[in-house]
Amino acid sequence: MTDTNVTPTGSGAVPASADGDNQLVIRDLHVVPVADRSREILAGVDLTVPRGEVHAIMGPNGSGKTTLAYALMGHPAYAVTRGSVTWKGMDILGLSPDKRARLGIFLAFQYPTSIPGLSVASFLRTALNARMRGLDGQAEYDPSDPARGGVTMGAFRKLMREKMGLLKLDDAFAGRYVNEGFSGGEKKRLEMLQMAVLQPEMAILDETDSGLDIDALRIVAEGVNAQLNPGMGVLLITHYQRLLNYITPDYVHVLARGRILKSGGRDLALQLEEEGYGPVLRAAGYDDYVGDEAPEPEPAAH
Ligand SMILES: Nc1ncnc2c1ncn2[C@@H]1O[C@H](COP(=O)(O)OP(=O)(O)OP(=O)(O)O)[C@@H](O)[C@H]1O
Ligand SMILES: [Mg+2]
Repeated sequence: MTDTNVTPTGSGAVPASADGDNQLVIRDLHVVPVADRSREILAGVDLTVPRGEVHAIMGPNGSGKTTLAYALMGHPAYAVTRGSVTWKGMDILGLSPDKRARLGIFLAFQYPTSIPGLSVASFLRTALNARMRGLDGQAEYDPSDPARGGVTMGAFRKLMREKMGLLKLDDAFAGRYVNEGFSGGEKKRLEMLQMAVLQPEMAILDETDSGLDIDALRIVAEGVNAQLNPGMGVLLITHYQRLLNYITPDYVHVLARGRILKSGGRDLALQLEEEGYGPVLRAAGYDDYVGDEAPEPEPAAH
């Protein structure tokens, strides 16, 4: 997967154990925002994402896609009121976000935040070291000592440069502060750079395509495709079927009214583009659906 010897713990390796180890399993997931517990956003999501598969999630605005991504990662603004999420055979709902990340789960944000004062390079190196240290923070691990699992500065620079090349990012990018003054497209590329460096085993990409022009979309999609491997599962949240022309999903799911209302193959995305979400919602018994008949138009290319 990379020509350097920097590989986070367990990355890319498919454990030869029970099936539960090899998939993210979401069962009957109910989620409320902590700020308003009376409002249920997710009302029983069932979804299984095995390693090696790409699952796209599509759904109307406000249907809970980002909430699902946040709940999987352990965002403190959301509370799980019912259901379970297991990964590597472990119940992850009791784990902090950083522990989930150490277990190989990665979230690319729909709206990345800036961190003035922290350079992209320092941020990535710290994150990689934390990831390589693993869940239990192995005592013998020393980030400054390659003999004790650490990544040398040289090896890290080589890895970062290789991944930046993949995403067609300028060298100066590494010295800039995280997302500070970044264009929308640059923010999305930094999310992808993080993914490329951290080499997750379960990648959740929340509208990584939004705000990208056609060329940037292709570069980002190629970056994701270059990372696909049998050891990694992908949950790809998107509004646009266009992204799925570049990253071919194994399955497409429609999330609406807090549940997965329909699942299908790649052609389901084409059908949604043609017909909107109305038919799926009405077939699920939501006769009152008066939302957009078709997904919002794709942004103009420039
Ligand atoms: N912290 C919160 N407090 C109150 N309501 C929230 C909170 N977070 C999300 N919601 C509401 O939950 C619903 C789902 O929001 P979410 O961001 O998950 O939707 P989405 O499917 O990602 O939408 P989009 O396609 O626009 O990104 C929205 O109506 C939103 O206003
Ligand atoms: Mg969203």
